[in-house]
Amino acid sequence: MSRLVVVSNRVAPIKEGKVAAGGLAVGVYDALRQAGGIWFGWNGEVNAHPQVRSETVGNITYVTLALTKLDYDQYYRGFSNATLWPIFHYRIDLARYSREEYEGYRRVNAMLAEQLKPLLKPDDIVWIHDYHLIPFAEACRMQGIRNRIGFFLHIPFPAPEILTAIPPHNDLLKTLCYYDLIGFQTETDKLAFQDYITREVRGVIERDGSLTAYGQNFRAGVYPIGVVPDEIRHVAESYKMRRQLVGRNRAGDLRKTIISVDRLDYSKGLVERFHAYEQFLDRFPEHRRNVEFIQIAPTSRSDVKTYQAIRHQLESEAGHINGRLADLDWTPLHYLNKSHDRRVLMGLFHRAEVGFVTPLRDGMNLVAKEYVAAQDPDNPGVLVLSRFAGAASELTSALIVNPYDCVGMAEALDRALRMPLAERKDRYEHMMRAIRRCDLDAWRDNFLRDLKAFSSRPKMVK
Ligand code: UDP
Ligand code: G6P
Repeated sequence: MSRLVVVSNRVAPIKEGKVAAGGLAVGVYDALRQAGGIWFGWNGEVNAHPQVRSETVGNITYVTLALTKLDYDQYYRGFSNATLWPIFHYRIDLARYSREEYEGYRRVNAMLAEQLKPLLKPDDIVWIHDYHLIPFAEACRMQGIRNRIGFFLHIPFPAPEILTAIPPHNDLLKTLCYYDLIGFQTETDKLAFQDYITREVRGVIERDGSLTAYGQNFRAGVYPIGVVPDEIRHVAESYKMRRQLVGRNRAGDLRKTIISVDRLDYSKGLVERFHAYEQFLDRFPEHRRNVEFIQIAPTSRSDVKTYQAIRHQLESEAGHINGRLADLDWTPLHYLNKSHDRRVLMGLFHRAEVGFVTPLRDGMNLVAKEYVAAQDPDNPGVLVLSRFAGAASELTSALIVNPYDCVGMAEALDRALRMPLAERKDRYEHMMRAIRRCDLDAWRDNFLRDLKAFSSRPKMVK
């Protein structure tokens, strides 16, 4: 049987049931836990003399290495997170470009492919994840690696008008075509990619649906990442009475809870969300003292300037809201930068009347699916969801909002808190059907099935 070899920038070995915050780590870990295999990538450390280390826990072998300071600065902090991330999230205004950083990005991809080569057996299936590793397949082919290689993009794929703001967009997209299969979160992402391939580089969509561009033939498909709903339900039930959560009981405490959980990232729409909450308390004063908003926002990429700026802005907004509206016995906004055990989060979701998920752009947003899956079917809460989260194309029974419309979001909060039980149940059941249809097993199985099925000529570097 062929082994599954997963490569992602950040490898997050599980420690005491905890996996690093972030949809990729959560999804990949759950998928590998079922199938077993190798997980290869960066261990999160910066070291002048990186050495490959291997550790097996259960049926997963983690093979990791550190990055040098230069590699970290150019590949991770630079091109990945100061160029690709903002542009793929439609924030050209926050992006910067440096030719040296792009060269560093290409160099680190080549180095990682070289380090992976001795670990591979000929019939291993190789599955690469996310924007840090777009040129990885090309680098593998240059090493003579002939295995099937698939790629999944966890973040949005932007419209060509946005993508072409990256100076070496052509060179970058050419490397992407060395994959056998490229997976996207939504149909919109896939169409944007096809648009680029057909309009910018005169590639063609073949009769069998495959694509040909830059002399390569490959496939593109839609594989929305999902969760494991039964497990979430079970964890939510068993964590709802944990010490941290007691006092937030829907039955025992009349104060209702609005919950949001996001990495502290400008793509998550946190500033707009805080404004919307303030509008909500101003426009619907009857909710004052009867509601509290918990925003969990663990810091992320804190040495990238744009992340420092958004953090300062949020601290000031949170201080403003509480300073203006809090009372001795009521804190309207609880703003926490600590990262939380995912199981505790499921317990919190279970107890919260409203899940407030309003990114300005998001590949999928697993929190939206987790919030719904953690609800009590007999008394479910309401999900308020941004139309710009990938999850909105499946969770159409959420209260869908535009995150740039603070008044609209304030009205949605009011509606969610007043929603009758029958409507809450209807919406919940509809969303649960979508969550079950596109669960984590479907994501992994469909992607790997298509990757195994696709037979093209072995890719050659031209
Ligand atoms: N998460 C967590 N602890 C935290 C914050 C988030 O375990 O303190 C998890 C969360 O439950 C979800 C993932 O991290 O599974 C975030 O994924 P999502 O797709 O929502 O956003 P991303 O971080 O990938 O942009
Ligand atoms: C998102 C990205 C992942 C990334 C994660 C955490 O989920 O899609 O690729 O790993 O955020 O970000 P970090 O920069 O800490 O790895």
